[in-house]
Amino acid sequence: MEKTLTYGMVGGGEGAFIGDVHRRAIALEGGARLVAGCFSRNPAITRSRGLSLGLDEERLYETPAAMAGGEAARKDRIDFVVVVTPNASHHAIAAAFLDAGIPVVCDKPLVTNSRDAADLVRRVAAKKLPFCVTYTYSGYPMVKEARALLRSGELGSVRFVNAEYAQEWLTLPLEREGNRQASWRTDPSQAGAGSTGDIGTHVEHLVSYVTGLEMRSLSARLDTFVEGRAVDDNATVLVEYAGGAKGLYWFSQVAVGSANGLKLRVLCEKGSLAWEQENPNVLQVARLGQPVQLLSRGRDSLSAEALGFSRIPGGHPEGYYEAFANIYRAFLAHLRDPSEPTPDYPGIAEGARGVRFVERCLESSAGGGLRLDF
Ligand SMILES: NC(=O)c1ccc[n+]([C@@H]2O[C@H](COP(=O)([O-])OP(=O)(O)OC[C@H]3O[C@@H](n4cnc5c(N)ncnc54)[C@H](O)[C@@H]3O)[C@@H](O)[C@H]2O)c1
Repeated sequence: MEKTLTYGMVGGGEGAFIGDVHRRAIALEGGARLVAGCFSRNPAITRSRGLSLGLDEERLYETPAAMAGGEAARKDRIDFVVVVTPNASHHAIAAAFLDAGIPVVCDKPLVTNSRDAADLVRRVAAKKLPFCVTYTYSGYPMVKEARALLRSGELGSVRFVNAEYAQEWLTLPLEREGNRQASWRTDPSQAGAGSTGDIGTHVEHLVSYVTGLEMRSLSARLDTFVEGRAVDDNATVLVEYAGGAKGLYWFSQVAVGSANGLKLRVLCEKGSLAWEQENPNVLQVARLGQPVQLLSRGRDSLSAEALGFSRIPGGHPEGYYEAFANIYRAFLAHLRDPSEPTPDYPGIAEGARGVRFVERCLESSAGGGLRLDF
């Protein structure tokens, strides 16, 4: 019998979005139990949330630093911490837990500037601790199928990538109407950047994960369509990759009619792939001169990667929680067996690269769409 691991959470208090998703995804995966938390900057909220989740009062902490110190001093210390607070707080919180010798799962974007990213990279290397950045979309089985198909070489080299992430939820200035998630996401001091950091970084990771392409240069134009907003809410990025492939990314949070429209299309010499997050159990594959195929999740002929991360037979739709749980499947397996050389979850290097992507987009756009080396 495998030992049940234990974890703590920073963030994810009353009314928070993603902390609850992490808790449910970990419960869905199984094998780890929440035992400690600092769910809010307000100790009363941490207490009520912690008690409602069945935690011992002595493991509810007033600050992340107190939690890192308190847990490090315990014999039954947590096996990892999950950081699900607004972006600008990630660095100090993750650093405190790494210093305490505790592995970290941090939501994206890793941090808000390259200096902090490099600092975390150094700390992770010095402590030799597992570190996961939850780029959720690489957890979908049909994304893994797309990756396996491109790796097989059957479709030839990639020529062009077209990726978009369209949301409508910031079409109105919700940040001026007291919407908590909108308020910090449109405050540069808390978010770092707008749509580029919030959803563009998912695109950058998804493309890299599926295609394996290395970005060589980019040219970005960031727009702010909502008057008075302090960050970008729409962006277009032209990309060049090593080997000559090209890409076009578009992210928008003012795209009326789109809820969570993350879409990827990869054109290759002999075929193409297309995947959409809102219909995630299907991968479209085209081979030149043949009928277009829709591959569905859970079929025996799929790759070992896609089958290994499928939880229920095909025809029973899997979605966001399962994808999140798949990131945890790979991370928990790595915690149990750190000798695994290529664990299939996004790590500190991917997190730091995402931060560089956001910074380069801001820089390029400020220079009028300058083409910059990546
Ligand atoms: N992987 C994904 O798909 C995904 C989706 C949504 C959000 N996120 C990321 O998750 C993070 C949180 O986003 P959210 O939408 O849940 O935000 P949120 O505003 O809904 O929740 C943030 C929580 O952190 C708490 N908090 C803030 N500062 C804290 C501190 N210093 N100590 C303890 N708790 C603190 C708040 O009280 C709140 O409970 C962000 O980095 C965001 O980019 C990732």
